[in-house]
Amino acid sequence: MTCFILLCFYLCLGLLPVRTSAAVNEDIEVLVILPKNNSYIFSLARVTPAIEYARQKLKIPGGLYSGLNFNMRYEDSGCGNDALFSLVDRSCEKKPDLVLGPVCEYAAAPVVRMASHWNIPVISAGALASGYRDKDKEYTHLTRISPSYLKMAETFAAMFHHFNWKEALLIFDDDKEERNCYFTVEGVHIKLMDQYHISPVVINSKDEHVNADDLIKLIYESEVVIMCAGADIVRDIMLAAHRRRLTNGSYIFFNIELFNNTSYGNGSWKRGDKYDNEARQAYSALNTVTLLRTVKPEFENFSLEVKRSIQKAGLPDCENCDNINMFVEGFHDALVLYALALHEAIRNGFTKKDGAEITNRMWNRTFEGIAGQVSLDFYGDRYGDFSVMSMTNPEAGTYETVCNYFGVNESFQMLPGFNPEHFTLKGRHRITHTDLPDKSSGGLGVSAVTGIIVGSLLGTALLMAFYFFRKNYRITIERRTTREECDIGKHRQLREDSIRSNFSAA
Ligand SMILES: *[C@@H]1O[C@H](CO)[C@@H](O)[C@H](O)[C@H]1NC(C)=O
Ligand SMILES: *[C@@H]1O[C@H](CO)[C@@H](O)[C@H](O)[C@H]1NC(C)=O
Ligand SMILES: *[C@@H]1O[C@H](CO)[C@@H](O)[C@H](O)[C@H]1NC(C)=O
Ligand SMILES: *[C@@H]1O[C@H](CO)[C@@H](O)[C@H](O)[C@H]1NC(C)=O
Ligand SMILES: *[C@@H]1O[C@H](CO)[C@@H](O)[C@H](O)[C@H]1NC(C)=O
Ligand SMILES: *[C@@H]1O[C@H](CO)[C@@H](O)[C@H](O)[C@H]1NC(C)=O
Ligand SMILES: *[C@@H]1O[C@H](CO)[C@@H](O)[C@H](O)[C@H]1NC(C)=O
Ligand SMILES: *[C@@H]1O[C@H](CO)[C@@H](O)[C@H](O)[C@H]1NC(C)=O
Repeated sequence: MTCFILLCFYLCLGLLPVRTSAAVNEDIEVLVILPKNNSYIFSLARVTPAIEYARQKLKIPGGLYSGLNFNMRYEDSGCGNDALFSLVDRSCEKKPDLVLGPVCEYAAAPVVRMASHWNIPVISAGALASGYRDKDKEYTHLTRISPSYLKMAETFAAMFHHFNWKEALLIFDDDKEERNCYFTVEGVHIKLMDQYHISPVVINSKDEHVNADDLIKLIYESEVVIMCAGADIVRDIMLAAHRRRLTNGSYIFFNIELFNNTSYGNGSWKRGDKYDNEARQAYSALNTVTLLRTVKPEFENFSLEVKRSIQKAGLPDCENCDNINMFVEGFHDALVLYALALHEAIRNGFTKKDGAEITNRMWNRTFEGIAGQVSLDFYGDRYGDFSVMSMTNPEAGTYETVCNYFGVNESFQMLPGFNPEHFTLKGRHRITHTDLPDKSSGGLGVSAVTGIIVGSLLGTALLMAFYFFRKNYRITIERRTTREECDIGKHRQLREDSIRSNFSAA
């Protein structure tokens, strides 16, 4: 008996140091760099309540992370160079221990480079471009808490494999500024180009009228058409395709719309004009790839709290500001993930200044996020889950999710609305490209311009892409010289905006 009590006593003594060291006390300076302008769905006003919610939850007394004291500092990044200026200005007196953001591709690149150089972890729910996957050299301290465009593209790779498609036409609207569609489609291109015949077509609806009939000619030569453009342009293209009977099953159409759920699904064909009926028929051939949304019980409280706090702030210029989107969730999860990693690092004898160590502990791990499980791959990029939506009732023109793709185990889940016929190419012979790959200078013209624009902005990572562009890539599009000159003018301008260009000498 005495023996047992003694044993207990020693056991307790043995456990004691572990228990006291469980919670660690630390002050952490966090710099949040996001745009103030509420026309961005990841503006400060929308994301701040989510970060504050995470902070409150981590502080709950008795919790493992209650000793972590986060001092938040919120700065306007705009969507360009201001982000870097914010980081540098805020770091003059004292460097932050953690940077959250930026989201915009061009804002994120210099910030992540600078922070990596300073050994500061950066977690972003954006920076989705493929160039950021280069974690070895340029973006060593970047953790991406939302699925990148390359992860999205896996959905297409899996479908191409599954349905045995061979050709894709990528139509994207490039505004030459934030270039969201450009980067979206770039991911698909990189993912598919090794195995399939891919032809990209760029349009620019901001600067010129888009003639859908011109695009139709290119569709004839393809099998799968993948679009990234505004809702009106997608509708114009679908109408034109329908008039040429290309929606009869011989071609498969997709649009990629990850964030704006008002522009796809039920009623997206409807405009109240005389083309509605035709558009409804056309859209029966159109599928949408979007983010898979999950919720769990805790999400309800989170969502209510975020909405409440935004309503309390009473933002006049903020339409639908209380919609919870991927970015809002992502930045919440970012703080949680950092707390996990920091706590672990400190308990293993490191400090908050060991940015590389903390970053490493955030990668290759799975944890509970606010909307479900979050899994990061070996390179600190989140695995993505995506949904494919199709029109399941052509009479009513209503949409349903027909299948889901899970990035973490690379598997499809077919839902009851799924009809394999809908994804099977019908009634035509395969186009055989005997002349592939074509290394003629004509093809190189366009691809080189594209390559240079990307490379100049995102650095070495895309050198590889450029290399493949040159190697494997046959361009089937003739471009007017005026347009090309225009592109080159813009490309120069973009290059001067960037910190460093790998192609300026090329
Ligand atoms: C916010 O951005 C939109 C679109 O980019 C622009 O039209 C608007 O003027 C901006 N608002 C402010 C206050 O800068
Ligand atoms: C879009 O998503 C928001 C929340 O994320 C939801 O409240 C809204 O109803 C959705 N709209 C449509 C048209 O599905
Ligand atoms: C979403 O799509 C709708 C319909 O196309 C459009 O009116 C709206 O401006 C878009 N919203 C954003 C934030 O892009
Ligand atoms: C959310 O949960 C917290 C405590 O867990 C509670 O104080 C708060 O009232 C809840 N919010 C809502 C809107 O239910
Ligand atoms: C990733 O984590 C798993 C277990 O969580 C481990 O077995 C594996 O070795 C890790 N991989 C790398 C590359 O660190
Ligand atoms: C579209 O409408 C149909 C019928 O009203 C409904 O069953 C379906 O769930 C809706 N789909 C979406 C994605 O809202
Ligand atoms: C893949 O993962 C998802 C989500 O974690 C799960 O629902 C699904 O059953 C998994 N599929 C397979 C084949 O393991
Ligand atoms: C669909 O239309 C295209 C173009 O008019 C034609 O080449 C193809 O054979 C048709 N396919 C079917 C299944 O009717």
